[in-house]
Amino acid sequence: MQIDILTLFPQMFPSLLSAGIFKRAIDRKLVGINISNIRDYTHNKHHTVDDYPYGGGAGMVLKPEPIFEAVEAIKSDISRKQGLDEMPIILLTPQGRLFCQQIALELSKYSHLILICGHYEGVDERVRQHLVTNEISIGDYVLSGGELAAMVVADAVVRLVPGVLGSEASPIDDSHATGLLEYPHYTRPQVYRGWAVPEVLLSGNHAQVTKWRREQSIMRTLERRPELLNKANLSLEERQSLDETKPSPEGR
Ligand code: ADE
Repeated sequence: MQIDILTLFPQMFPSLLSAGIFKRAIDRKLVGINISNIRDYTHNKHHTVDDYPYGGGAGMVLKPEPIFEAVEAIKSDISRKQGLDEMPIILLTPQGRLFCQQIALELSKYSHLILICGHYEGVDERVRQHLVTNEISIGDYVLSGGELAAMVVADAVVRLVPGVLGSEASPIDDSHATGLLEYPHYTRPQVYRGWAVPEVLLSGNHAQVTKWRREQSIMRTLERRPELLNKANLSLEERQSLDETKPSPEGR
């Protein structure tokens, strides 16, 4: 998979790419990450990327030309090398669709992604209307730019690319991958400051361990994120025992 990131602050990325999951994926040639500076696609003397908003108001707006030209240059490079035309062109913006594991999974299936980091008051609307295919927000808060959001999206996607994580099985149990939060983990020592690891995990009984983990996942989700349970993939039996656990609504 190839991810192109368009930004006004390319210097924010190298440390991210030189450690952990990204380094591993890049070293193994499973993923390539290209960082492009939007400013390199300006033609004016001062390399201006922003301008005052028509109609007045506070803040500056990112001009359309350098963003269009950067994306078009990347796309024509890819189509020359790989004959590929269709790829998600994603704008990171607080107005976008709320990012989640399902979106990460969908994006991990593409061989190429383009991520555009917005800045200032926003980007010229024609970028949204005529260039971008998806808009993504990583949460209901406003960051000073799309870079951190692009890193979040790239991280969540890259770890789902086959072969990137050590064990192929590990993303399957991740919190949210199943629609439930993940069960608790323990490692040695068996007793730490008097706090013991649950007996069942030491039993060697795989069926019991699997059952315990499943119950813990469901209980944890009920305690912390009960709204997730509506959509989670639960068996009839699990739904029934959950209904018995949950306090019944008043008057029923
Ligand atoms: N840019 C600024 N805030 C953002 C957010 N919450 N998500 C994605 N991009 C952003």
